[in-house]
Amino acid sequence: MQEKWKEIDECVQHWIKEAGTRIRAALAEKLTVETKAHRNDLVTNVDRETERFFIEKIRKTFPGHRVLGEEGFGDAIKTLQGVVWIIDPIDGTMNFVHQKRNFAISIGVFENGVGMLGYVYDVVHDELYAARKGEGAFLNDKPLPRLEPVSVSKAIISLNATWVTENKRIDPKVLAPLVKDARGTRSYGSAALEMAYVAAGRLDAYITMRLSPWDFAGGLVLVQEAGGIVTNLYGAPLDLLGKNSVFVAKPGLHEEILQKYIHR
Ligand code: IPD
Ligand code: CA
Ligand code: CA
Repeated sequence: MQEKWKEIDECVQHWIKEAGTRIRAALAEKLTVETKAHRNDLVTNVDRETERFFIEKIRKTFPGHRVLGEEGFGDAIKTLQGVVWIIDPIDGTMNFVHQKRNFAISIGVFENGVGMLGYVYDVVHDELYAARKGEGAFLNDKPLPRLEPVSVSKAIISLNATWVTENKRIDPKVLAPLVKDARGTRSYGSAALEMAYVAAGRLDAYITMRLSPWDFAGGLVLVQEAGGIVTNLYGAPLDLLGKNSVFVAKPGLHEEILQKYIHR
């Protein structure tokens, strides 16, 4: 990997740790909670402050880079040309507000649409998942083993109950048999963490019907570098500029689920 990316990696890791320290301190203070698109779409002063923190650092240190951030302090991104950072300052804001755990900072850095660096930082547990293109994925600097194939019958799959009850994105009958056949299902409420858990082998797959680029950008690079597969539910590559269904799994398992449950 080129020297320039090593330098960027060092900066990001340093900034993420600094932002994490601020967020942990904020957990002891009173949060300002507002709603966005609907009554369960929450945002806090900490989400906004954290996004501003990263954007200020990036603009000062890498003035040619552009930023797509969930809270809107970045640039209006219409193309993936050049270096684009995709940032979710807090992924799992509902957990942040209600549980004070199970949330993460997520950052992906792309060059002409290719994932170069990916990070998910579990602030409460001080677990930093990081990946550099071609160098693999790491958890707190320790290399994560390459993901090995597993079958549905031995898999733990992360999936929200929404997708197997009446909803407007998928017929509940499509994924119900998968829930039945899998060893177990889980749902953590942070896409970034769920993708990091797949990269770390704590989960075998993660399926969801609608995410924005900032929810999956960091996790995408992480999972790919760990040897996992990331597509939309139907096996097509993700669009980094729009909303997608997201299907992340170990090799073998991804194929089995696509063939037996999705493309029946
Ligand atoms: C949310 C989380 C959640 C997913 C939602 C996202 P936010 O992100 O990733 O797991 O199911 O679709 O919006 O709003 O907490 O950053
Ligand atoms: Ca998010
Ligand atoms: Ca967020």
